[in-house]
Amino acid sequence: MNINRKVQTLDEFTIQQMRDFPAATGQLASLFRDMGLAAKRVNVEVNKAGLVDILGDAGSVNVQGEDVKKLDVYANNQFIGVLRHGISCAGVGSEENDDIVVFDDEISNKSKYVLLMDPLDGSGNIDVNVSIGTIFSIYKRVSELGKPCTIDDFLQPGNKQVAAGYIIYGSSTMLVYATSRGVNGFTLDQAIGEYTLSHPDIRCPDSGKIYSVNHGNFFRYMEGVRKYINICQQKQKSEGGPYTQRYIGSMVADVHRNLIKGGIFMYPGTIDKPKGKLRLLYECNPLAFIVEVAGGKATNGQQRILDVKPTELHQRSPLFIGSSSMMKELETYI
Ligand code: AHG
Repeated sequence: MNINRKVQTLDEFTIQQMRDFPAATGQLASLFRDMGLAAKRVNVEVNKAGLVDILGDAGSVNVQGEDVKKLDVYANNQFIGVLRHGISCAGVGSEENDDIVVFDDEISNKSKYVLLMDPLDGSGNIDVNVSIGTIFSIYKRVSELGKPCTIDDFLQPGNKQVAAGYIIYGSSTMLVYATSRGVNGFTLDQAIGEYTLSHPDIRCPDSGKIYSVNHGNFFRYMEGVRKYINICQQKQKSEGGPYTQRYIGSMVADVHRNLIKGGIFMYPGTIDKPKGKLRLLYECNPLAFIVEVAGGKATNGQQRILDVKPTELHQRSPLFIGSSSMMKELETYI
């Protein structure tokens, strides 16, 4: 039997990374494995969403007042269930739960990390077979080890993230994660049920030709944002244009594409909703961390996303994120 030595699985990769840190306990690697495992289960359900009675509303609304789809509930339960039974996570903050979920047992209380997540981002796209994703963010606890984690562990600024990642359920299923050492992407090989390293050391191109924004809100954006969108539409070849507008409505997929190809994603505040729609802790911070490690930038229009000190679990934030030189140009308008 031929063994393809070029293939490196997620577990092999994280173990190899750990070798550079003799003091590492393996808890972080085990968190990635837990997220990958739960995502495989979610992936199975996502793939058969058109076949079984799993589509449609679960009949309840989440804490944001939005309809909760059945798959959101399923994904949330899977991730929390796997993390609860793992050895590395003291508790979870989820977009789908009002409050933090504290795993108050002996092993979890000794765990170093807490995790925040949007278990199924872009859930409005489930019914129409468009890419959706899971986004997560990992922090070292600030509360005392050996005791249950507290809300302070979750309300840390994004610059304290130890790691962040996402899983895209798309034409293939990919897990991408970042630590301060780099961003790496793993594609799920369905035949063997393993994530294999397919996108090593992802770098966000300094510039690109893609801008992603909901044009339907154009006249509700602030003047500076409208000016920048006009600039995007008018880019000449000599200025790196023409630009292309791409907007999936699943931020994780939009940001992933722009991370690989170069581009800018914007979800600005509007006149009626100055803080926009996206959640700082579950969506903006993890993606800002990943994009910054890859060489890009992320702001809320006034300051670096990662420097915002959160005051509440479900707080929203405008987001501008992407290739560094495009972000610099945007900043001259906003
Ligand atoms: P949801 O998970 O409720 O479908 O929200 C998705 C988020 C984000 O992923 C996406 O970019 C944005 O909402 C789309 O919102 P608009 O439809 O307002 O553009």
